[in-house]
Amino acid sequence: MAQAYAAWLAEAGTLRGLLGPREVSRLWERHLLNCAVLAELLEPDATVCDLGSGAGLPGLVLAIARPDLRVTLVEPLLRRSSFLGEVAAALKLPAVEVVRGRADELHGRRSFDVVTSRALAPLDRLLPWSMPLVAPSGSLLAIKGSSLAAEIRAAESQLARWHCAEPVVLHLGEGVVLPTTTAVRVAWADPGKVGWPLLPGTSSAPDGPDVVDGREEPDPGRPPSDGAG
Ligand SMILES: C[S@@+](CC[C@H](N)C(=O)[O-])C[C@H]1O[C@@H](n2cnc3c(N)ncnc32)[C@H](O)[C@@H]1O
Repeated sequence: MAQAYAAWLAEAGTLRGLLGPREVSRLWERHLLNCAVLAELLEPDATVCDLGSGAGLPGLVLAIARPDLRVTLVEPLLRRSSFLGEVAAALKLPAVEVVRGRADELHGRRSFDVVTSRALAPLDRLLPWSMPLVAPSGSLLAIKGSSLAAEIRAAESQLARWHCAEPVVLHLGEGVVLPTTTAVRVAWADPGKVGWPLLPGTSSAPDGPDVVDGREEPDPGRPPSDGAG
């Protein structure tokens, strides 16, 4: 199944401009295996939301590697969300759902055990997009590059604002994939205090509106309450 997905990426993916042609020769180590090593971190039967899935990385890879997972791929661009739907249908992945939209459009409506992403945004921007979707005992899990330590420092105020636990840096796939994968996991500091539902548009964001793909991002949502429950 992974080989079939690799063929989709190498052929339709490059033809439709979802993947640079230079990536084809390094599809496995830089893309498929780089994402597949996340699979070992996920609990059995977990619900996973992959934000900014693009051509399905890491979401489709996780769905292939772990058929027990229920995977929701969130992608605002039609060309990419259509590709995701076509691949999921061709590979007969019934536990994959494709949502065409931005992360914040799911806030207050859905929650997941794990919210993944790769190459979506720096951690300080990822937190307000991802944490409103993370179940009280769940976590954000993002594949990151060499700037992770600086991203964590820059995200200090957002980590406090969202009442997150200390981020955990993970080095995955040692002895299995080269280069190894660096990821960050962020859980809630106190799952018992996560306020639900996290309704969009109910808080005053500390920063101005973000612009994504030329469109203004609405307010990301309300951080967890300080009160219990
Ligand atoms: C650089 S691509 C990364 C794609 C894929 N995750 C990968 O690693 O190859 C970022 C993707 O995030 C999507 N995106 C941008 N803003 C978003 C948002 N607010 N919510 C969800 N997806 C978003 C873009 O359309 C794009 O497909």
